[in-house]
Amino acid sequence: DWSMANFIEIEIEKIRAQVGDKQVLCALSGGVDSSVVAVLIHKAIGDQLTCMFVDHNLNRKGEVEQVMKTFTEDFDMNLIKIDARDRFMNKLKGVSDPEQKRKIIGNEFIYVFDEESAKLKDMDFLAQGTLYTDIIESGTATAQTIKSHHNVGGLPEDMKFELIEPLNTLFKDEVRALGLELGLPEAVVWRQPFPGPGLGIRVLGEVTEEKLEIVRDADFILREEIKKAGLDRDIWQYFCVLPDIRSVGVMGDGRTYDYAIGIRGVTSIDGMTSDWARIPYDVLEKISVRIVNEVDHVNRVLYDITSKPPATIEWE
Ligand code: XMP
Repeated sequence: DWSMANFIEIEIEKIRAQVGDKQVLCALSGGVDSSVVAVLIHKAIGDQLTCMFVDHNLNRKGEVEQVMKTFTEDFDMNLIKIDARDRFMNKLKGVSDPEQKRKIIGNEFIYVFDEESAKLKDMDFLAQGTLYTDIIESGTATAQTIKSHHNVGGLPEDMKFELIEPLNTLFKDEVRALGLELGLPEAVVWRQPFPGPGLGIRVLGEVTEEKLEIVRDADFILREEIKKAGLDRDIWQYFCVLPDIRSVGVMGDGRTYDYAIGIRGVTSIDGMTSDWARIPYDVLEKISVRIVNEVDHVNRVLYDITSKPPATIEWE
């Protein structure tokens, strides 16, 4: 007789038995998997858990604040925020190749995590949100790498920690159910997939502070309007990208020469293939008008109507 409440009870006993009176570290990304793992382990061992959140400056608007609020205020957990924004920005300076950006962001995350976790004394265990599907997929390497899919949070293999992976028998929908049962907010449990390299691959070409701000602000408006229209559960992923182009526009009596924002909205089962989401024209119009009016340096909005294949979901 398997139920979520049973699962939680059994896992809590297992975690307590494994950990004893030792300390556990968890890298929190704000995504569903690491959030659920953190809350489950916290329920089992309370203050013996320390979470670490690395701010790499590539998150969406409001996300860092949401993570801090959820885990420190609502759940009263030990959460250390590492401000690594300058480090990541310096490493990304002058780099425009997508795969190189992925590598830099993935590696820098590991360096930061290594350095910062070394400062914490007596950490014996590392908690990870590995799912059943992660284990299956890592066994089947595809012949050709389209994108390296560095998952930020992928940690070095020579770590001195012992691993705790309480989700490694679960599928995604079970993890969401578990998250709800544990009291995580719907916004966290139903968060759309977000790539490890974050906005670093949604600012096309070189990543600068100015461009990050533009794409962050535009993306925030898109998310607001999609939610208002009640479409946030139907569209698998929806986000803005900032192509590295500018075009001519007119504002009042004046000529503008500013950026275009690309909107991507896709339906998909697993991200392997996707179709473009048929977002109603009136919703698209609202989004477009708001972005051009509210985001400085944007004078044009595009909607991506390609499926995957031949395109990919992300633009880089
Ligand atoms: P693509 O762009 O390859 O995306 O069609 C498929 C899914 O994977 C996500 N994605 C990534 N996730 N690291 C990740 O953790 C990455 O480097 C990365 N690149 C793409 C993408 O958001 C979509 O859900």
